[in-house]
Amino acid sequence: MNTTIDTIYSDYTNDKTLSKYADIINSGGLVAFPTETVYGLGADALNENAVLKIFKVKNRPANNPLIAHISSLDMLDRIAKNIPQEFYRLFHTFWPGALTVVLDKKNCVPHSVCAGGDTVAVRFPSHPIASKLIELADTPIVAPSANLSGKPSPTRFEHVFEDLNTKVDGIIDGGDCDIGIESTVISYIGTNALKILRPGAITKEMLEDKGFSVEIDEHVLIPAQSTDKVASPGMLYKHYAPNAKMELVRGTDSDVISYIQNKIKNSEYRCGVLCFDGETKFFKNAFCYEYGIKDFPLTLSKNLFSALREFNNTNVEYIYARVIEPKGVGLGIYNRMLRAASFNVTALKNGEII
Ligand code: TXA
Ligand code: MG
Repeated sequence: MNTTIDTIYSDYTNDKTLSKYADIINSGGLVAFPTETVYGLGADALNENAVLKIFKVKNRPANNPLIAHISSLDMLDRIAKNIPQEFYRLFHTFWPGALTVVLDKKNCVPHSVCAGGDTVAVRFPSHPIASKLIELADTPIVAPSANLSGKPSPTRFEHVFEDLNTKVDGIIDGGDCDIGIESTVISYIGTNALKILRPGAITKEMLEDKGFSVEIDEHVLIPAQSTDKVASPGMLYKHYAPNAKMELVRGTDSDVISYIQNKIKNSEYRCGVLCFDGETKFFKNAFCYEYGIKDFPLTLSKNLFSALREFNNTNVEYIYARVIEPKGVGLGIYNRMLRAASFNVTALKNGEII
């Protein structure tokens, strides 16, 4: 298939170029486009044939439902019903933005979008290309991350090109995504009560500030068994994994650095270290990727998936990873890293493994 590609770096609301992609969506095609979190692979949410193409191209399990992206509250009314009044408090604060809300679906939403369930996950992205594309298409657009299933989500055009060129109708290159991890997914569990199914840049604390009590789904930090009934099926799959085996190391800076140094010295594998900025100097005989500044989690989230893909371009067989505390945005980062490492974590205290 010939994939149409355009680069839009500044004139974000260039209607002429974007109209071409809106037309592709309206005629049942697939378009990958940037959002503020990660690139999405879009199709008309109300066209079941188009939606099914997404599952095929990505090789995505049919029981993993999709997020419908909208560009106005009117569009929300077309696909969701029984919206609790208190939700408008969230919408007005966090939309457009990196928050996805699971709501009761209307009949017009095809079966495949919701994996046969009664709910639809909805997000109003803030990226100007994403919101303009949806507005021009004048239909909700379902968009999972624009990677092949099992690969890290794409945060740069090059990642999308690598996975999807010649497999989809169009790719819009809008440069790098700002946030770098996927949106926070929440569901409603009672009056003023929410559950975070997937943590992201909109944090538990930010939702609590708006007067909600917020629970975190247990599968955010512990692996789901295939027999568990998970609230968000995406949690079941091995995601984001690099080809090399990965180990997360927790503890004080000095404990973690000397543990990794020792391991590298004695390892039979070609080692790599996913470390914070300025730390390459500690790990002389390993391939290092500095993924951001420890005290600024959004620098880490922005580069995490690029880093995981970059390790695949090296001959590294074993990756040691520095991690931040799983709170605030750090919870979303830690959740993705746990999955990339298949929950392989070493925690240190006073130089000992605990
Ligand atoms: O930031 C994002 O959300 C990106 C960009 C492109 O918007 N999209 C994204 O989509 O991450 P995807 O398909 O890779 O992840 C969707 C997640 C999955 O974990 C899925 O199980 C969950 O949302 N989900 C979708 N519909 C749901 C529903 N009705 N109930 C519960 N979880 C749902
Ligand atoms: Mg995904």
